Amino acid sequence: MNILVIGSGGREHCMVWKISKSPLVEKIYAAPGNAGIAEIAECVDINISKNNFDSLIKLVEDKGIDLTVVGPEAPLVDGIVDYFDLKGYKIFGPNRQAAAMEGSKVFAKELLQKYGIPTPDGIIFKKENYEEARDYIEKRSSFPVVIKADGLAAGKGVVIADDKNQAIEAIKDCFIRNRFGSSGDRIIIEDFLSGYEVSVLCLSDGKKIIPMAPAQDYKRIFDNDRGKNTGGMGSYSPVPMVENQTYRQILNEIIFPTGTAMVRENIKYKGILYAGILIIEEKPYLLEYNCRFGDPETQVVLPRLKDDLVPLLLECAEGNLIGKKLDWDEDKCVCVIAASEGYPESSSGGDIIKGLDYFKDSDDIIIFHAGTKKENGSVVTNGGRVLGVVSKAGSFKEVREKVYSAMDKIKFRGIQYRKDIALKAERSD
Ligand code: GLY
Repeated sequence: MNILVIGSGGREHCMVWKISKSPLVEKIYAAPGNAGIAEIAECVDINISKNNFDSLIKLVEDKGIDLTVVGPEAPLVDGIVDYFDLKGYKIFGPNRQAAAMEGSKVFAKELLQKYGIPTPDGIIFKKENYEEARDYIEKRSSFPVVIKADGLAAGKGVVIADDKNQAIEAIKDCFIRNRFGSSGDRIIIEDFLSGYEVSVLCLSDGKKIIPMAPAQDYKRIFDNDRGKNTGGMGSYSPVPMVENQTYRQILNEIIFPTGTAMVRENIKYKGILYAGILIIEEKPYLLEYNCRFGDPETQVVLPRLKDDLVPLLLECAEGNLIGKKLDWDEDKCVCVIAASEGYPESSSGGDIIKGLDYFKDSDDIIIFHAGTKKENGSVVTNGGRVLGVVSKAGSFKEVREKVYSAMDKIKFRGIQYRKDIALKAERSD
């Protein structure tokens, strides 16, 4: 069969890599893809925004594509699945209503609260009630507090405000300065809870949910979780800190009750449901749902999955997930992201990436490209997160040594990466 993967990041490179291992697959297309994806798939330079879904449909028709797999959240929230359904083409991902689990934090919070699923307490305010929101902050005594814009905001819609002034500025950003457009028309003011986070990506066919192995990502730009938030600077799986008992609690108190809640609300969730979980003293809380594979969590989860991914994607899209237990490699997997100069405030492009050839035929080190493109025969940087260097081994110590010695060989102007990815896992291994 022919498969089209939509997107151009490290997550999509990893999805294409895993899909390419399936004996069911004849040819893979990617729209738009990147320089790494182009090594294993045919990249088609199509804009994937909502006013261009017709061009994707045309590609599906021209190339005889049997299944389209969507990477990023924006096309899902914009209804790409509804559009493909209407045209009669098979697609993996939630429809617009279900993608609101990520597309509207208010929608997700109301569902969680209605069904008593553990989540930090939060109050919802609308733009027209700006004074009320402000008043609430003026009277509040405990800080920090979390201010969340309702809709998609390119990862910038969540602010942890340390005091009243910061909280009021964050509210003004949404309601007065319209920094996020309609995404900021509603906000949630949420209690700040402190613990550690873990991501659980789950396959869902609209009735059944199959959780995948947990992973942890690193959101801050600098070592020891300092500096600005990023899209993710590294990840690892499994997560030794999550004991079996805690993992069972995550499933039984959060994931499965969410599945039941969605069925009761007639939300047919087909695709990946990504649960961002906060654990405080072994008790899990749902921080956020995302409607797609995580980046860079995917880069450490899929290399550990022994099963063929393609039948799972098909079963979800067709609404008939068989529900067999997934088979996981016991090895530890680590991904370290190399980012370009200036990231996350800005990104630079056009710098030649050296050292990729060392790993061209390696089974041991996998380089997932994110912001890269081919220019005059060289691979050059083309965005904030540039590459993810991934490997597996029997222990976190061993895999960290492999990944970081590979990282030493990768060079481009202004390269920055964290040196402490999976260090805490190594210490508890
Ligand atoms: N790793 C965070 C995300 O994918 O949203």
